[in-house]
Amino acid sequence: MSFSAADHAFMARALQLARRGLYSTSPNPRVGCVIVRDGRVIGEGWHERAGLPHAEVEALNAIVGAGEAAKGATVYVTLEPCSHFGRTPPCADALIAAGIARLVVAMQDPNPLVAGQGLARLAAAGIEVASGLLGADATELNIGFVSRMTRGRPWLRLKVAASLDGKTALNNGVSQWITGPEARLDAHAWRARSCAVLTGIGTVRDDNPRLTVREVQTTRQPLKVVIDSRLETPPDAAVLEGGKVLIAAAQDHGARAAALQGRGAEIALLPNAQGKVALDDLLRELGRRGINEVLAEAGTRLNGSLLREGCVDELLIYQAPMLIGDAARGMFGLAELAELSGVTRLDIIERRAVGADFRIRAVLREADDHRDFPGRGLLINLLRIAHIAGLAGISAVVLAGAGGARNWGAVMLISGLGIVALDAWANPFYFRQAKGIGTLLKVALVLLLVAWEAGRLPLFWFVLAFSVALSHAPGRLRHRGLF
Ligand SMILES: NC(=O)c1ccc[n+]([C@@H]2O[C@H](COP(=O)([O-])OP(=O)(O)OC[C@H]3O[C@@H](n4cnc5c(N)ncnc54)[C@H](OP(=O)(O)O)[C@@H]3O)[C@@H](O)[C@H]2O)c1
Repeated sequence: MSFSAADHAFMARALQLARRGLYSTSPNPRVGCVIVRDGRVIGEGWHERAGLPHAEVEALNAIVGAGEAAKGATVYVTLEPCSHFGRTPPCADALIAAGIARLVVAMQDPNPLVAGQGLARLAAAGIEVASGLLGADATELNIGFVSRMTRGRPWLRLKVAASLDGKTALNNGVSQWITGPEARLDAHAWRARSCAVLTGIGTVRDDNPRLTVREVQTTRQPLKVVIDSRLETPPDAAVLEGGKVLIAAAQDHGARAAALQGRGAEIALLPNAQGKVALDDLLRELGRRGINEVLAEAGTRLNGSLLREGCVDELLIYQAPMLIGDAARGMFGLAELAELSGVTRLDIIERRAVGADFRIRAVLREADDHRDFPGRGLLINLLRIAHIAGLAGISAVVLAGAGGARNWGAVMLISGLGIVALDAWANPFYFRQAKGIGTLLKVALVLLLVAWEAGRLPLFWFVLAFSVALSHAPGRLRHRGLF
């Protein structure tokens, strides 16, 4: 689907409006909307808070002179309009009633109650519908909502403040402050956009943190979650001030539980087989409570457990220009490895300077395939077989000096694009990673070959050698997703 430069500009504006709800919309998604007629913006809106009108309705209401004004207009929304009755009536119906001519959305709503039905309803009413404009930005803006809708658990972002040599605290537990004031301010903005901030009992004991948003203006404080198997949080801990605390424990220590409940804390008993808190169960519980994004700010031990148990989706690492030395505490408390093949692989999605420090954001390779459906793996494997068959077919006809390379090229191309589409659907960061770029490069080479037609041996052998080299590249390259 092709979009004009004006389409891009209006959707970029809608995303800008959606970002105004960064700290307030949860459990709802952040959504912005722009209504355009005759090339002019006639209405804008964004979703501010659950229970208040959705962005589309806000934008319709904002049109000066309302009434017939939206007739024939184009509407840009960052998320598919809803088609069901929730706290507010369906936005799809409001847009149909307003008589709009065209709807452009950045992404489909992953909410199973909507999932394409909003677009279908608008298309059935004769409205021209287009989807996918700036979809990656919209997905990233609502990564927590997408995660909760598709996996039933929030997106967990693990924040660490470390020295350049990867140390997070002295051995005596002192860690304040490793990063500078700009990085700490930035971290408060990440807290503010999170529905929950999570830490471990070790950090509560050593740092006595408040876990509140203080440096950034917000109307909402996140839920504070403490992982504390034996309910050892001191009843006078700063984290308990102001309430909104959930303590996840593994055992019910009657008197201690009563003291903490007396301070307003809620206690959730979620034991695992080792007598600690079942971290995955905790994430599912948070998902049930409408928590979209979690910011974990814990010490080495809990960070390690979260990583090992597959609970981490993204790392947010601040690195300060200092060296603390090997004896200090590290970031993740991971077990020693005998071979490099066992390393945890990451894809860096952003790096930038914040004051004197560096901010690095990375996603976990294992965690980034976060959308799935039954049979996706089988489908990808069948497409891979077709892809290889296409390559073999081209080889055979070229070696035999026969025609038909184009047909085999088409098989290779269509199957390759199918693999890209399925991978990109599963992973919102796909096109920013080597994996996506590598596959696109390969597809482009096949296109070149098909355009060239058979018989041009040098190019054919080049493509063949390229594909074979990639297929036999060492594990490290394969992990980098280059094929
Ligand atoms: N630089 C930074 O970004 C940063 C951020 C936060 C904290 N820190 C520093 O980190 C230090 C504290 O680190 P820490 O490792 O002692 O504390 P922590 O990671 O905050 O908490 C450790 C505790 O978490 C619990 N835990 C771990 N895995 C668990 C699991 N699967 N289920 C349930 N509970 C689990 C364990 O308690 P149980 O034994 O009771 O189960 C463990 O003692 C402090 O010095 C603090 O200053 C640094």
